[in-house]
Amino acid sequence: MAAVDRFSLLYREIGRACDFYIEALVIAGAWYTATKCISFAVKTYSLLRLHFLPKLVGKIDLVKQYGRWAVVTGSTDGIGKAYAEELARRGVNIILISRNKEKLEAVSRSIAETYKVETDFIVADFSKGREAYLPIKEALKDREIGILVNNVGVCYSYPDYFTNLSEDLLWEIMNVNIASASMMVHIVLPGMVEKKKGAIVNVSSTACCQPIPMLTVYGASKSYLDYFSRALHYEYAPKGIFIQSLIPFIISTKMVPQGTILSKRSFLFPSAEEYASQAVSTLGLSIRTPGYWKHAIQVTLLEHIPEWIWAWGIEYVCRIVRKKALTSKLK
Ligand SMILES: NC(=O)c1ccc[n+]([C@@H]2O[C@H](COP(=O)([O-])OP(=O)(O)OC[C@H]3O[C@@H](n4cnc5c(N)ncnc54)[C@H](OP(=O)(O)O)[C@@H]3O)[C@@H](O)[C@H]2O)c1
Repeated sequence: MAAVDRFSLLYREIGRACDFYIEALVIAGAWYTATKCISFAVKTYSLLRLHFLPKLVGKIDLVKQYGRWAVVTGSTDGIGKAYAEELARRGVNIILISRNKEKLEAVSRSIAETYKVETDFIVADFSKGREAYLPIKEALKDREIGILVNNVGVCYSYPDYFTNLSEDLLWEIMNVNIASASMMVHIVLPGMVEKKKGAIVNVSSTACCQPIPMLTVYGASKSYLDYFSRALHYEYAPKGIFIQSLIPFIISTKMVPQGTILSKRSFLFPSAEEYASQAVSTLGLSIRTPGYWKHAIQVTLLEHIPEWIWAWGIEYVCRIVRKKALTSKLK
């Protein structure tokens, strides 16, 4: 009996000593749950505000807000072409920039006829480096550019190890993905600052949110664009310029590996047109967004995956895609 008394006394003493720790744990748990709930509520609100509210309250008048002309780089295909069409649908005149004159003429004519706006184009190959910009600077000299969309970008034809990449490909990615956006902003931004209005969209990628082994240089170039846009926004927002980092997930265009599920339009992977119609609505509303509500959910989930699990999984997928590409190359 005495032994039992001693045990219950000891139990009570331990319980009393633990009370403090239990209370601390309860407070920490409540704090964690509250922050998660608030963050979930904020994310849900911004998703609704960005992607659904504009449909109810009406679209921003882009011409009034930013100006009559938009320049879109890499605009004869995929996202660039669809984005240019969406801007034209909103009454903005378009200047297209890509390499191929015939394609530029065709897209330029089609946009002018369909949307009854003025169009023009500049033939330029951004992979050529510095020499590409003189003709662009000359052509844009007397134009009042309200919107600049730095969309042009290139990727590997399939994921690969860094040491397998050719020097040419490295220079192409750096010139097309990084230098083009920096140079185009350098050409266009002074005019916008003078007018105290304008918008710049840099098409980065979700690849900037988590490292992608076997797409190292592409992912790093997209991180550059994301950082560049966000930092530039703080510099120029006070001068009336809106700068957006667009971080799309996968869109079924020619850029994604062909013959895989990524290249087929599906519930998760929209066509360029579906994507652009939503992405343009986020202009002026969000400085960093995937631009498409389903991508916003995917990106939120992706950002919560621990980096090592993500890297392990994505490298596994990349190895499969590489193997498939190499096998079909041999056939
Ligand atoms: N598709 C996706 O899943 C995805 C996801 C995230 C981010 N992005 C980004 O979105 C952007 C557009 O991708 P996309 O999928 O629409 O690509 P795309 O379908 O391959 O179109 C690329 C466009 O860029 C032009 N272009 C390519 N190299 C050029 C160069 N050296 N100089 C001038 N123009 C050039 C092409 O026209 P010409 O051949 O006529 O020159 C074409 O109009 C890229 O920055 C990409 O990184 C794409």
